[in-house]
Amino acid sequence: SNECGKPAGRVDSVTDTNDLFTTAGKLADLRARFNEAIVEPEKLAQEKQHAKGKFSARERIEMLLDQGSFVELDEYVRHRTTAFGMDKSRPYGDSVVTGVGTIHGRTVAVYSQDFTTFGGSLGEVTGDKIIKVMDFALRSGIPIVGILDSGGARIQEGVLALSKYGEIFRKNTAASGVIPQISIIMGPAAGGAVYGPALTDFVIMVDKTSQMFVTGPDVIKTVTGEDVGMEELGGAYTHNTRSGVAHYLASDEDDAIDYARTLLSFLPDNNLSETPTYASPFSWETTDEDRQLNTIIPDQPNQPYDMHEVIGRIVDDGDFIEVQPLFAPNIVIGFGRLEGRTVGIIANQPSQMAGTLNIEAGEKAARFVRFCDSFSIPIVTLVDVPGYLPGTDQEWTGVIRRGAKLIYAYAEATVPMVTVILRKAYGGAYIVMGSKQLGADVNLAWPTAEIAVMGGQGAVNILYRNDLRKAEEAGEDVNAVRTRLANEYTYNVTSPFLAAERGEIDGIIEPAQTRVMIAKAVRALRGKRVEGPSKKHGNIPL
Ligand code: HXC
Repeated sequence: SNECGKPAGRVDSVTDTNDLFTTAGKLADLRARFNEAIVEPEKLAQEKQHAKGKFSARERIEMLLDQGSFVELDEYVRHRTTAFGMDKSRPYGDSVVTGVGTIHGRTVAVYSQDFTTFGGSLGEVTGDKIIKVMDFALRSGIPIVGILDSGGARIQEGVLALSKYGEIFRKNTAASGVIPQISIIMGPAAGGAVYGPALTDFVIMVDKTSQMFVTGPDVIKTVTGEDVGMEELGGAYTHNTRSGVAHYLASDEDDAIDYARTLLSFLPDNNLSETPTYASPFSWETTDEDRQLNTIIPDQPNQPYDMHEVIGRIVDDGDFIEVQPLFAPNIVIGFGRLEGRTVGIIANQPSQMAGTLNIEAGEKAARFVRFCDSFSIPIVTLVDVPGYLPGTDQEWTGVIRRGAKLIYAYAEATVPMVTVILRKAYGGAYIVMGSKQLGADVNLAWPTAEIAVMGGQGAVNILYRNDLRKAEEAGEDVNAVRTRLANEYTYNVTSPFLAAERGEIDGIIEPAQTRVMIAKAVRALRGKRVEGPSKKHGNIPL
């Protein structure tokens, strides 16, 4: 034994057998410390988390990354807080595990909060670890995945804890549009801590075991008297269906990780790199699947169909990863591939609220357009929209201001944009949904398209108001007259050939040609470059 070899203040992990004056002794010391820092606490962490039906912070990382690829950083970091008896417990690594590894062979940075250490709370050194790995990701141009499971700001560390959140938020913002950022919520995320994930591109929540809220049920009860449970207030279901905070409702932790891995397979490493290309079964010939699109539009204009059926027949292998499927389902967004390369798809959904646009749909699509534009992912828009959802609720909650976001997003986007009008494209919604005037490059229509200021019934009620009144006074069947006039209007005014005649759309195609035509357009547009006027940044209506 060599007592003199123990560094002052570091005696806890040095065994009597480690001679720190020899190389072998130093290696033995490293192993002892590694055991103390990782192996032993990890056993305890797994025990605690498994008892709650959850995985430990490290296990989650192992699940996320390719097997054996994880390299941990800062596992010997320890806090320096002395208040509230904190100096009696200074676990290695503090309450977060950080590092890099690979997903499908591509490098990503990751941090995973450890709830078993101080409730995963964020203090000075935890914050610094997260900021350091975010910096690493930004510098290297690799995506970052954060796994959150935390009681929020470490109460014992006061303002230092708060300021680290501030730094993280600023870093999230700096990274926005530079590297993809994904947050997986696997436990509580409370207080201002929710804003870290909110600033990232995609938020995945695990059903029943994750919650996000700015103020918890107790505070709400005290201040407003409202009685609400944690799950109803900020559970995964709530944030996927009501608030739109989350983008995917995972059934369990495995499902959450699977979604994140799949999502990343569609995304580039950073804003200067291309999306990964996969071997593709792409056929330039019209296939039987393609031909099925020729019968998808019902003869009755108000009869719905499922837009997923269309998307599935356009993307490679029918492989489409939907984003925010449970929020504003009247618009569908997500990623697919054409010729093995990623495209972002935005499509009205006639089977939900007749595919009308409302505030939620507009905001959902706008953020998606901006994501695709940030990362040079071509945008394919599939249009079947009867217009905006009318109502005081929409007007008073800001459909003007909030609906403007989608216009802004499309008008600002410089990526290749291809739009296909399948059926209805009425009024403002026609313009908003990736119209040529907003900057789309190739606009096509199916022969079933109806493009006009409004639908036949509405137009006839205004244009033929007097005729209809006279018909009524004359005792005629007004509804029959209205239907006849509306049919005439639809036939004469909404025909896509009128739009084609004016060059408003570039071509009218058979539905069966859609997949190949979109692929040709996207391919032709690969070299698209758009220079706008120089400015600091625009002022998107928020
Ligand atoms: C320090 C914390 C902590 C915190 C939890 N712990 N939250 N320690 N700071 N913020 C500790 C607990 O004391 C406990 O320690 C261990 O973590 C596990 O916590 P439990 O309460 O036993 O777990 P559970 O019953 O699962 O409840 C989890 C919880 C609850 C809902 C998260 O702990 C909680 O309400 N915590 C406080 C949440 C909060 O208000 N945070 C501040 C938010 S404000 P022991 O030693 O007993 O195991 C914020 C501002 C951000 O974050 C600023 C951004 C601008």
